[in-house]
Amino acid sequence: MAKPVEGLEITRLSPDDIDGAIVAIQQAFADDPFADWIYDRSRFSPRRNHASMTIRMRWGLRNGHVFVAHTPEKRCAGVAMWVAPKPLDAKPTWDDWWQDWALWFRQVGMNARFGRGGLKVKRYYLWKECQARMHSQVLTNPEGYWFCNILAIHPSCQGKGIGKALMQAVFETADADGIPCYLESSKFEPNVKIYERMGFRFVKEIKCDDGEGACTLFSMIRDPVVKVVEEDSEEAESIKDGKAAAE
Ligand SMILES: CC(C)(COP(=O)(O)OP(=O)(O)OC[C@H]1O[C@@H](n2cnc3c(N)ncnc32)[C@H](O)[C@@H]1OP(=O)(O)O)[C@@H](O)C(=O)NCCC(=O)NCCS
Repeated sequence: MAKPVEGLEITRLSPDDIDGAIVAIQQAFADDPFADWIYDRSRFSPRRNHASMTIRMRWGLRNGHVFVAHTPEKRCAGVAMWVAPKPLDAKPTWDDWWQDWALWFRQVGMNARFGRGGLKVKRYYLWKECQARMHSQVLTNPEGYWFCNILAIHPSCQGKGIGKALMQAVFETADADGIPCYLESSKFEPNVKIYERMGFRFVKEIKCDDGEGACTLFSMIRDPVVKVVEEDSEEAESIKDGKAAAE
């Protein structure tokens, strides 16, 4: 088991962390097969990507659960963005509707200012279509899923237990509520093995292929871990005491 980094601190993302978190994401995904497929790297614009990521991070501050890892040497060594579970039959609220439109308007404004920055728009829509197909096949839990839509550790900090520690904040809540977690990776090696070490299982792969190039997404689910408490143990006694006090 990776030894936890000394002095590692996991916090909620604050507006001051956004730039550092974006650097970690950009560096972590510098050789990502999905980014290679969806962007024309020769026209890739780091400025546009920074603007786009800033919009995503601000959306996450308001609508998601975003955690950052700080080490004594590096602020924002990694970032994880989650969206909380929603029952499958839940209808979007007015607030969801408004937030989606606000995000869309900001993205349109960004495209008007920076252009597409090498984004292959047809592939973007193909990816969305493939992802929706995958979700309809694998996301079947009626109570929904904790959905991890960004996980990135700065390359200088990978393999030190930071990714696992970052995920722990949500795993604890998910386990307590009996809710599974979900993520997608565009790399089989080494990510599937890494996520298996975090308790995920590989579920399905889906190929996005536009005839000129393909990219594969690997979906993984982590089932909630049910904690077994020994009868007569100290923990069982304190649960009993808590219940009695509540009655
Ligand atoms: C994938 C990623 C998030 C994992 O975070 P990390 O901090 O490097 O991973 P950790 O150090 O917490 O390792 C978690 C477990 O995987 C194991 N592991 C780490 N790297 C591994 C590797 N290359 N091969 C096999 N196992 C590995 C660790 O030993 C640990 O298991 P243990 O707790 O039983 O010892 C990170 O490497 C990353 O950002 N990669 C690039 C971007 C990316 O692919 N993001 C994911 C998109 S879905």
